[in-house]
Amino acid sequence: MCGIVAYLGKKEAFPIILKGLKRLEYRGYDSAGIALIDGNDLNVYKCAGKVSNLEAFTEGKNINGHNGIGHTRWATHGPPNDVNAHPHVSMDGSLALIHNGIIENYDALKKELIKQGYVFKSDTDTEVLVNLVEHISKKENVWYGEALRLALFHVVGAYAIVATSKNHPNQMVAARKSSPLVIGIGADGDFYLASDATPIVEYTKQVVYLEDEEIAVLKLGEKLKIYNIADQEKTPYFQQLEVELEALEKGGYEHFMLKEIHEQPRSIHDCFRGRLNAAEGWVSLGGIKDYEQKMIQANRLILIACGTSWHAGLVGEYLIEDLARINVEVEYASEFRYRNPILSENDVVIAISQSGETADTMAALELAKSKGATILGICNVVGSSISRITDAGSYTHAGPEIGVASTKAFTAQVTVLILMALSLAKQKGTIPEASFRNLLAELEAIPEKVKQVLATNDKIEKIAREYKDATNALYLGRGSSFPVALEGALKLKEISYIHAEGYPAAEMKHGPIALIDENMPIFVIATQGNSYEKVVSNIQEVKARKGKVIAIVTEGDIQVREMADHVIEIPETNEYLVPLLATIPFQLLSYHIAVMRNCNVDQPRNLAKSVTVE
Ligand code: G6P
Repeated sequence: MCGIVAYLGKKEAFPIILKGLKRLEYRGYDSAGIALIDGNDLNVYKCAGKVSNLEAFTEGKNINGHNGIGHTRWATHGPPNDVNAHPHVSMDGSLALIHNGIIENYDALKKELIKQGYVFKSDTDTEVLVNLVEHISKKENVWYGEALRLALFHVVGAYAIVATSKNHPNQMVAARKSSPLVIGIGADGDFYLASDATPIVEYTKQVVYLEDEEIAVLKLGEKLKIYNIADQEKTPYFQQLEVELEALEKGGYEHFMLKEIHEQPRSIHDCFRGRLNAAEGWVSLGGIKDYEQKMIQANRLILIACGTSWHAGLVGEYLIEDLARINVEVEYASEFRYRNPILSENDVVIAISQSGETADTMAALELAKSKGATILGICNVVGSSISRITDAGSYTHAGPEIGVASTKAFTAQVTVLILMALSLAKQKGTIPEASFRNLLAELEAIPEKVKQVLATNDKIEKIAREYKDATNALYLGRGSSFPVALEGALKLKEISYIHAEGYPAAEMKHGPIALIDENMPIFVIATQGNSYEKVVSNIQEVKARKGKVIAIVTEGDIQVREMADHVIEIPETNEYLVPLLATIPFQLLSYHIAVMRNCNVDQPRNLAKSVTVE
């Protein structure tokens, strides 16, 4: 939520920051801006809209500076216009500041500053922050870095901040609490700052992740200094980035989402690589190995997540309960954290998060930790906040996901949850050896089967053309395919803006059936398995009301083919693994419909990939 990029070094800052903002645009794209120190001047360029607007706005201008900060915004306080765009400049014009997060007590601070004579141009909490720093700097007669540290004592909320001053052209200051900030150090000592490593990776792989309530002081020609809020110096912990630049580019695809959908044979394989061996009959999630007995003996496992990750959690619930016979609950992080949940040291709370930064998920984990529960994580972004605060965890290894609508991260999360269910079941002795080995072998075969599903793309595109003008859609599934229906509906609504609902197939009778008419497409997962006959009955109920049925079926299915308007075949697999295959036609369908409706597939309106505010 909001992307931050900054550079201090010997090169021209503007192109580095602009490119970085493009890479971070998935975090927010309401407005963008850059401030640069050029000699004794502080120049700010900012405008509403995407980074491309900023690029057009700055084209042909003579922009210089080796010290600059940039921001792409997801609006919280005030509409997304030019004035509210970051960076914000303090009243005397000396300081510029960018911010990701929310200052909760900004109104009280603003009133106090107005009393001191400050005049505000924007509606943002960030302008309050930059003026607070200026005010403290003048009142206490300290440099702005010290003033920023002192200002943080007055601030309630979440922030990643970078500030720069025309009075200190060779310096820069950054701080964070609850919102992420990474600092890269180039071989030549240049500094690159960003909300995540994606803008940094092409310049350096040596990074430091700032911790909560830490302040970084950057001086050209000197080593990075980090202090805590009490002004005690801390030793920076340097890490090597593993991500490659190619992973951040579109690689010939028209959209990141399409590229990421097609990467799934590889990303699922990367996720289980080295973690199972069907021939030898073992599965092992190294990261959580030491916590498995605790999980087996726990009162319950509580999976917390938001959005698509929550859907993965629901799939996990079916699998872990069924295979390992452990009580599982799945919670929306935002509800869980405010519900005063009953938790003890006998509970294991597992956060599922692609970004590893989602504010509600982080806060729910912190709450669980404070109540003594064991906290684990399933994250995609290596080194993310959630991966760092948890006791242990398993990475999904899906690689960077740039499209705002999650695709490969979902199937990777489901893969980790399958491995977890299998590992727990094996240790608990709740799965017969033959079934265990069969599932492992089937999982190893999944990447090839995903390729087969992807090969049905042309057919899915034709179906998309037929339903692209629908105003409503219903997605139905049972068992572990019910979360797939939820995820299918979410994909359609988030990128094509068609209203869609996911429902357990049997629940259709208790409401959604009233909506069905000849214009309503109903997407049904009707693969072979325990509830096949029941789903067939549900399809008949839909057809009796003239609804259009698009069914995902197992290869060779005859019964549903006769009833449905369209069928999409997926290869036969173990019922537990169906979510990994059945979700893919829904991803492709949403993608094609969104393209046909001229929607911005990778950056759907009002959404952001990394939601670091409540
Ligand atoms: C946002 C994204 C979704 C994502 C959700 C949770 O809403 O647009 O794609 O599923 O946040 O994010 P997380 O990073 O915690 O998985």
